[in-house]
Amino acid sequence: MERRQIVIFDTTLRDGEQAPGCSLYPEEKVRIARQLENLGVDVIEPGFPASSPGDFEAVQTISRAATRAEICGFARAIFSDIDAAVRATEDAPKRRLHLFISSSQIHLDFQLRKSREEVLRIARECIAYAKQFVDKIEFSPMDASRTDEAFLWEMIETAIEAGATIINVPDTVGYALPEEYGAIFRRIRENVRGIDRVMLSAHCHNDLGLAVANSLAALRNGAEQVEVTVNGVGERTGNCSLEELVMAIDTRGEALQLATAIDPSQIYETCRLVSRTMNFPIAHNKPVVGRNAFQHESGIHQDGLLKHRSTYEIMDPERLGVPRNMIVLGKHSGRHALQHRLAQFGIHLSDPELDDVFRRFKDAADAKKTVSDDDLIRLAAEGTGEMMTSYTLVHMQVMTANDQVRVASVTVRDNRTGVEESHSCTGSGPVEAVIGSLKKAFPFPTEFVDLELHSLSVGETANGEATVTIAMGGETFRGTGVHPDIIVAVAHAYMSACNQAAQEAHSLHAVQEALAARN
Ligand code: KIV
Ligand code: ZN
Repeated sequence: MERRQIVIFDTTLRDGEQAPGCSLYPEEKVRIARQLENLGVDVIEPGFPASSPGDFEAVQTISRAATRAEICGFARAIFSDIDAAVRATEDAPKRRLHLFISSSQIHLDFQLRKSREEVLRIARECIAYAKQFVDKIEFSPMDASRTDEAFLWEMIETAIEAGATIINVPDTVGYALPEEYGAIFRRIRENVRGIDRVMLSAHCHNDLGLAVANSLAALRNGAEQVEVTVNGVGERTGNCSLEELVMAIDTRGEALQLATAIDPSQIYETCRLVSRTMNFPIAHNKPVVGRNAFQHESGIHQDGLLKHRSTYEIMDPERLGVPRNMIVLGKHSGRHALQHRLAQFGIHLSDPELDDVFRRFKDAADAKKTVSDDDLIRLAAEGTGEMMTSYTLVHMQVMTANDQVRVASVTVRDNRTGVEESHSCTGSGPVEAVIGSLKKAFPFPTEFVDLELHSLSVGETANGEATVTIAMGGETFRGTGVHPDIIVAVAHAYMSACNQAAQEAHSLHAVQEALAARN
């Protein structure tokens, strides 16, 4: 049987942007919208045109730039809002308008102070008004999941009669349980006149952590569209997370008999872009894209994974564009995992050497929370008395001041030749200056992908942990560094990533030389 393809409606730039502290400049919205098209979402709701001139401009620019996705103009059930949404989206190749008004008794009594008859009339008149300009009209009875059911059905019937073509049923305050939310959809399908002429849509908030489960329940009960945000950002605890819903469908498509048009390889890049631009960190344990989503510390799990990925992973991180670094070394890790991580730096130890390094690694892991790449390389060097990586940071110095550009200088030794080179660079911040200098010192062309910074404890003496991701030749490499000076931690993390990239480049070079010699 063919799987039913559902419509992915992305509201990161409208509902998602309502998350406290996440507001975006128009040019940032345009950049994210472009990536949402690369990701393959069907509909983009880029903002609320009547809310500010900046949002109007963003919706207009995105409408003009859109190539594949349908653009949705959002409006309250107010004529002037509708006018703004109509104008902002008029250049979109495909568009719809999205109108909403509250339907629950709580909202009618305390917020709108209007009778049921009044809101029905407003909904009818506004949909009819909008219909003159745009044929595709989505209508949302806000707080639908807490609305008296008979009134909800009456409101939906009124909206359909007035010309709505998509009915969205929001769980505005994230109150519904999956079986309840699913049943709301089933009963709408069974009881509302004209429902077969329209598309049903789910819109879930995550106050009880049920937004994805509720959206799936709606899909199982007749919804054809789901409204989602990247990283689940949105009011309070957010909306249904795009990546979680899509990957649930991708991973369990057989059981759900559903499919989407999303390209999984764009998921990681999209989530990182939204997180960076909104200044909204992704929790370590966030499904699909959190830093720990594909990292394993337990020795038993690591052993299984090194033998076969599917022993402890249900999704392939490489398909999602997630940089491969599945093994995290800590006190639960085994000898096999240690050997694997050292090999990523080109360090191959004899059995007695590995036993010795493993013993000291366990002591280090007991003594501190994280064993950084630097610690590991130092342990290996102490164990063998040899310099183990291709390049070593011999010296670094950074000058910062509140009113001047920052200047960094570094000295890096090529351990294979013994040659030391010094480079310097300026930057608007110390990180930019240090990375700029290290980039000059490293002989391979790399691209800086991402930097994460964390404090490993509380208080003034806390150690900073940096994780740097770089790309070279289509592959990504991730390194970690821990130091009381966060800039030194960044430099160590960057060197670690570069050393892994160098290891790849040297291996490739060795293979090419061997092939050339054979021919
Ligand atoms: O959560 C909600 O009810 C909404 C609607 C306005 C669609 O975002
Ligand atoms: Zn919402």
